[in-house]
Amino acid sequence: MDFRKLLTASLVAVVMTGCDSGAVTTESSYATDSAAQAEAAGLSHGEYVARLGNCVACHSIPEGEPLAGGLKMAVPMMGNIYTTNITPDPETGIGNYTFEQFDAAMRYGVKSDGTRMYPAMPYPSYAKMSEQDMRALYDFFMNEIEPVNQPNLPNEIPGWKDMARMGMGIWNLLTMDGDPYEPDASHGDDWNRGAYLTQGPGHCGACHTPRGLLMQEKGLDEDSSAYLAGAPLDHWSASSLNGDINSGLGRWSVEDTAEFLGTGHNRFGTAFGTMVEVVNNSTQHMSEADLRGMAVYLKSLPPVVEVNAEEWRYDNSDTEQLLGLDFSEPGSQVYYEYCSNCHATSGEGYYPYQAPLAGNPVVMDPDPSSLINLTLNGSLRVIANEGPDVNDMPYFRQLLSDEEIADVLTYIRSSWGHDAAPISTQLVSEVRDATDPTRNDDIFVLRMK
Ligand code: HEC
Ligand code: HEC
Ligand code: HEC
Repeated sequence: MDFRKLLTASLVAVVMTGCDSGAVTTESSYATDSAAQAEAAGLSHGEYVARLGNCVACHSIPEGEPLAGGLKMAVPMMGNIYTTNITPDPETGIGNYTFEQFDAAMRYGVKSDGTRMYPAMPYPSYAKMSEQDMRALYDFFMNEIEPVNQPNLPNEIPGWKDMARMGMGIWNLLTMDGDPYEPDASHGDDWNRGAYLTQGPGHCGACHTPRGLLMQEKGLDEDSSAYLAGAPLDHWSASSLNGDINSGLGRWSVEDTAEFLGTGHNRFGTAFGTMVEVVNNSTQHMSEADLRGMAVYLKSLPPVVEVNAEEWRYDNSDTEQLLGLDFSEPGSQVYYEYCSNCHATSGEGYYPYQAPLAGNPVVMDPDPSSLINLTLNGSLRVIANEGPDVNDMPYFRQLLSDEEIADVLTYIRSSWGHDAAPISTQLVSEVRDATDPTRNDDIFVLRMK
């Protein structure tokens, strides 16, 4: 990081409210210019970048107008804020933003009136976008979508606490780099393209990287072992995307990884929880080459926690017990009665329609919050053009007690060769109290135009 440049850029952004964004002009290159991939995906350059950045998932609500804002987001320790109207309406949206102001909002989190944003808007990632992509994105917002006159909702943060916004310039200096992505000559084109997409517009680390004391992502690229190492968010665990052999992507091929991002499924599992928003509204729109690039990059991340772990192998003994109607194992009877019709007695599911549990990294995730949340509350459905139309996971909130859920999840975490820690009834009760059932009928695919 060039500290002086960042300092100057940030001060200029504070003082002049974004008249100079510090953007450098990069040469046109495969890694950082999305124009050709947009064409391959059949979208304009700007619409494609908006899909890569998944603006619609945060700046829309399912029943509202596209990109007119209104989604409630929690800012830790502060309260709730609402996403804003980013349609080109001059009065209530961003119609009056110049390119320079837009660029400052995207890279440094400064609004056109000089107000600092909370990093609930993932600007530390968007900062890595190239100038070509940023200009195309601006063009899309100004010229390709309809203005919607809809005032922003007031934030639910007490005034004295909201003063923290003023400190965000300092926060930026302490926690982020702020420079556009620079290709790394020691890697090939696919890797560099994938690194750009993952770290930049894709902002995968916003969910998958653990956060530090200042709520910053602990790493913004592969130089940090914390980068994409798995993190809790909204009672889901965005599991590890590094090379851990059992709970990460260690056993997935590049093709498996690209298939998951493009369709929401592969032979290891199905997207659920907040990952459904990502597949439905963003990654399924990516070109084949970009899916591959992202997969090549993810597959280059080394293992972090399971460095010398033994690779999972299927073990048939639990299946034999179930088939013999031997329910001596706690949780096995609940599994047999409530789960096995979809996930199979063997735990292998029915690919691609019903997710496998045996060998699935999320079943072996050290953080069990996703498993509990999903079993209590179900999941939204993956709707991907090229994926099969699968059932969604039903919710068992009313059907099963906390103890039964703890037992059945402990059962799947220790069956078929798995060796993951048990889940306590106490933890299930906590997640039950903190969450609501996902509305399964709410098909979460958002229009942008
Ligand atoms: C993870 C959620 C999230 C995503 C994804 C996201 N935003 Fe935001 N955005 C926010 C939030 C929250 C705010 C308001 C922040 C605040 O007030 O502190 C915001 C504010 C903004 C603003 C300031 C608008 C104003 O009111 O003046 C702009 C511009 C913006 N976002 C553009 C984008 C674009 C373009 C994309 C896609 C490339 C995007 N955002 C993706 C959450 C998000
Ligand atoms: C009606 C069929 C059905 C039943 C019954 C069912 N599931 Fe699922 N389950 C699914 C589907 C489909 C998914 C994939 C996620 C989605 O699309 O909602 C899934 C996903 C999962 C996952 C995450 C795996 C992944 O990669 O998506 C776990 C863990 C899980 N189910 C556990 C259970 C448990 C435990 C039970 C019994 C208490 C159960 N399921 C009952 C259909 C079912
Ligand atoms: C809004 C939060 C969020 C964002 C942003 C996000 N993810 Fe996820 N992701 C999750 C959650 C939660 C899970 C666990 C549920 C599942 O397996 O679908 C997950 C799971 C995954 C999995 C499956 C892991 C496994 O072991 O089964 C992959 C691969 C993945 N994400 C890749 C990505 C990539 C690449 C990006 C950036 C383009 C991304 N995610 C952005 C929340 C997110």
